[in-house]
Amino acid sequence: MNVRQISAHDTYGIRQKMLRPGRDPKECVFHGDEDDQTIHLGAFIDGKLVSVASFYFSNNPRFPENVQYQLRGMATLPEHQNQGFSKELLKFGFPMIKRNFCELVWCNARTSAEGFYQQTGFECIGDIFNIPDVGPHRLMIKKFPTT
Ligand SMILES: CC(C)(COP(=O)(O)OP(=O)(O)OC[C@H]1O[C@@H](n2cnc3c(N)ncnc32)[C@H](O)[C@@H]1OP(=O)(O)O)[C@@H](O)C(=O)NCCC(=O)NCCS
Repeated sequence: MNVRQISAHDTYGIRQKMLRPGRDPKECVFHGDEDDQTIHLGAFIDGKLVSVASFYFSNNPRFPENVQYQLRGMATLPEHQNQGFSKELLKFGFPMIKRNFCELVWCNARTSAEGFYQQTGFECIGDIFNIPDVGPHRLMIKKFPTT
């Protein structure tokens, strides 16, 4: 497995298949995708992109931490799931955002993926809420202590 930084455009195929199937491809373009601070990561097997994740420099006003990133667009192709690819993307990405002084990373996790995020150190905050046309979600966070 090889993990490296990729472009926003590279993520769109897997986002479409795994996160927005049958929907307008424009929905796979997320706000902030092209921002300088945004980090898109991909995991490759034999040169084939199989898993993607993106970190956005974005504060959630519910939390006091000054430097926060949002994790979005996590997805692994079905035939490659449960083989540690997403975990590797986070293992690669967390030091990058920590170098940018990130104190907290948050995500709106699909409830079906809550277990994955818990495995990687996230905790649930608050109640389940619905994102129209996508489904039930829950806010999850992981803190990076500064001391
Ligand atoms: C959720 C998802 C991104 C996880 O990717 P993955 O590459 O299969 O995850 P990993 O193999 O790195 O899993 C890491 C750990 O989490 C566990 N895990 C993975 N998916 C899980 C799930 N849905 N629920 C509970 N645990 C899960 C794995 O068993 C593994 O545990 P281990 O470290 O004890 O072996 C993937 O299942 C997926 O693409 N799902 C569809 C799209 C989606 O829902 N994305 C999340 C949007 S918020």
